Amino acid sequence: MKALRQEIVAVCGTGPVAANHLPAMPLLSGTVREVLRLYPPAYTMFLRRAVRDVTIAGLPVRRGDVVQVVPWITQRDARWFPNPESFDPRRWLDSDHQPFTYFPFGAGPRVCIGQTFGLMEVSIAIATVVRTWTPHPESADPVPEARFSLRPRGGLRQRWTRAVD
Ligand code: HEM
Repeated sequence: MKALRQEIVAVCGTGPVAANHLPAMPLLSGTVREVLRLYPPAYTMFLRRAVRDVTIAGLPVRRGDVVQVVPWITQRDARWFPNPESFDPRRWLDSDHQPFTYFPFGAGPRVCIGQTFGLMEVSIAIATVVRTWTPHPESADPVPEARFSLRPRGGLRQRWTRAVD
């Protein structure tokens, strides 16, 4: 939290956080990516029905079969993300993910059209809040609740204090 705030203050100063600040804040970007890795709001993609027989990674899929891909599972796979349960924004700083191992916005022709806008919006929101405020969780780790999108069961109670550093 401290390193993140330092990055935000160094890049944005005291004025409003703007979209053109974002490329200069890799830790903020890693934080957002890490949140979407561990808690993808779209924890599963909409179901797809195969229109023809096909083999995917050695697995036969027949015409009419229903296929589901689940970011919650793939994005917590130690083959792609060492120590997968650990929240580590720095894992994104010097390496990118393998193709199709990280897809909080889907992938391929039906990838989310709001991806760039969504990332920009959430990054500006987090930077704006974290620059001035520190959250202190008052509940245990979130218990994920799989509704239409993923949400923390019962909410996330927090106390906020003004940042002093
Ligand atoms: C953090 C924010 C967001 C997340 C996690 C997210 C996630 C996703 C995912 C996973 C899909 C693909 C679903 C599938 O393939 O089954 C999708 C599609 C879509 N998203 Fe988003 N989305 C976000 C924000 C937005 C925003 C801000 C907009 C519009 C401004 C948007 C508009 C769309 C549309 C129109 C599609 C359908 C694209 C198509 O089927 O061609 N999304 N989104």
